[in-house]
Amino acid sequence: MNGRALVTGGAGFIGSHLSGRLMDEGWDVLVVDDLSVGHLDNLAEARARGRIKFHQLDILDEEFGKAVEHFAPDVLFHLAAQTSVVRSVADPLFDAGVNILGTINLLEAARRVGVERVLFASTGGAIYGEHVKLPAKESYARRPAAPYGISKKVVEDYLRFYEATHGIDYVALGLSNVYGPRQDPYGEAGVVAIFTRLMLDKKRPVIYGDGQQTRDYVFVDDVVDAFIRAAGIGGGRFLNIGTGRETTVNRLFGAIAEEVGFRELPVFADPRPGELARSVLDPSAALHALHWQPWTSLEKGLALTVEWFRRSR
Ligand SMILES: NC(=O)c1ccc[n+]([C@@H]2O[C@H](COP(=O)([O-])OP(=O)(O)OC[C@H]3O[C@@H](n4cnc5c(N)ncnc54)[C@H](O)[C@@H]3O)[C@@H](O)[C@H]2O)c1
Repeated sequence: MNGRALVTGGAGFIGSHLSGRLMDEGWDVLVVDDLSVGHLDNLAEARARGRIKFHQLDILDEEFGKAVEHFAPDVLFHLAAQTSVVRSVADPLFDAGVNILGTINLLEAARRVGVERVLFASTGGAIYGEHVKLPAKESYARRPAAPYGISKKVVEDYLRFYEATHGIDYVALGLSNVYGPRQDPYGEAGVVAIFTRLMLDKKRPVIYGDGQQTRDYVFVDDVVDAFIRAAGIGGGRFLNIGTGRETTVNRLFGAIAEEVGFRELPVFADPRPGELARSVLDPSAALHALHWQPWTSLEKGLALTVEWFRRSR
């Protein structure tokens, strides 16, 4: 399937990979991003290969709705968001503004122009809450612990409403911890990018707690693949996008150190309050629905990521 694709947050980490891949597959791509976090540099490689249109706009603006109507996309990939869990706790009003009201602004424009399908970047890592039997399945109750996850959960209800009332199909992808080239190494999250950058700069990364906490690390190309498959299939559902494999922070540290050739030990610091002890998603529903699998092994994904950070020094 291809046609007209609008990607919000397309100058960000995941959105820039997605936009490039859509362009390569022959889609007519418009990226909308307010560049609050993302950079046009992230689109430079793709734009050297072909044409991607770009509008610098806030998804909360009236102008954004007009841009959606003017472009009239077949499919809308909605990745623009306030992505910080910490900021969502400190400023839930801002989080809900961007993540809930911004999405409603988008859905209203989608309704006016008759968009066929919306693909939404939700979270799998921050939506189920603590104390669930792991790996987490889509059938589990979603009890997010922070406003970031609450906003993502609320958006799913809006997607269902727009599907039932206005016939806009959707898929919400519950992403685990995504890593890969172009991830911001200076943010609060994105441990692979943070560790890689520090080790290449010969600095010792900090591990909070004992390093035995686990996460489910999925490579960005596999996530892009899930978005593209979902765009062709749809179905009005939430799907976990993760690997089903748990990796401790200590093991991740060791694997990146090995790839970089970093010989020092990490610095251990007090655990961060509210951090989940374990997180891992069951991706089997995405296998059935999208014939999707996390094809890239952690070793291969880390090698590609380290190589990219080495080149982009
Ligand atoms: N990276 C992960 O591990 C992960 C995990 C789960 C879910 N997600 C979701 O995937 C999406 C993409 O995440 P990412 O890691 O690429 O983050 P990112 O910050 O690199 O990308 C988000 C983009 O949205 C843009 N943006 C923010 N507010 C905007 C606004 N009001 N109007 C227009 N653009 C705006 C930013 O400038 C940025 O380019 C987000 O919705 C995020 O919540 C990411």
